[in-house]
Amino acid sequence: MADAPFVHFEGVVAGYGGGDVLKGVTFDVAYGGVTCIVGPNGSGKSTLLKTVSGLVRPRLGSITFKGQNLVGMSPRDILRLGVVQVPQNHSLFKEMTVEQNVELGAFLIKDRKVVAERLRAIRESFPIVAERANDKAGSLSGGQQRLVEFARCLMLEPELVVLDEPSMGLDPKTLRVMFNTIKMMNSLGRTVLLVEQNARQALKMSHHGVVLENGLVRLTGTGTEVLNNPDIAALYLGGSVSVRPVH
Ligand SMILES: Nc1ncnc2c1ncn2[C@@H]1O[C@H](COP(=O)(O)OP(=O)(O)O)[C@@H](O)[C@H]1O
Ligand SMILES: [Mg+2]
Repeated sequence: MADAPFVHFEGVVAGYGGGDVLKGVTFDVAYGGVTCIVGPNGSGKSTLLKTVSGLVRPRLGSITFKGQNLVGMSPRDILRLGVVQVPQNHSLFKEMTVEQNVELGAFLIKDRKVVAERLRAIRESFPIVAERANDKAGSLSGGQQRLVEFARCLMLEPELVVLDEPSMGLDPKTLRVMFNTIKMMNSLGRTVLLVEQNARQALKMSHHGVVLENGLVRLTGTGTEVLNNPDIAALYLGGSVSVRPVH
């Protein structure tokens, strides 16, 4: 795998039956970094992430993870390879405790000792998991639940963490904590692929940026390059013919 990109999307075409949402998406995700996908609502960002975790199967094209094609693999096998996704909507079991939720993240691991050791490490990196261990997940704020979702996904020690709009619904202060937590996960050795509506803040903390527009990659570069591209401002502030409102 010496020369293979960590993750490579090649000509990915995918949709839901009524036409293609992704129209030939090609880009790389570099090992060890944070790669942020931005783009207008409805441009296919969530669909793209679903193709990575096997929830949407591309009609054409390939997605290789360390040289291995993920297309056609089951979500479970993709998880086993070390690709874990935190979905856009909150996904904790609200009637279960915080700790039980985090432990569920390790459902593929049979060795209880390994699970206990990982949980111990998680408590250190995520104080909320220690402090609120026995509280019902549903009693946490949206931002706190998001952090617990991150903690849960780390139980598998994934190589690639995929996050779909983790900032959704968070207030500015919680937003900062959330972005710092993404940086922390990255510094713990996880490569991060992230979709964000909060484009400015997200691109600022990302090594690489990808702009998706109407199912195609419009621009790639470092986070700063994408952030400073004049067309991107137009895309987000309106006034460009390329802006396509959703629905
Ligand atoms: N489950 C689905 N069934 C049918 N169409 C869908 C489904 N999910 C998304 N779409 C459509 O696919 C397009 C892209 O959606 P999505 O990938 O969610 O965009 P984004 O995440 O960039 O906002 C939209 O037109 C949306 O309505
Ligand atoms: Mg989305």
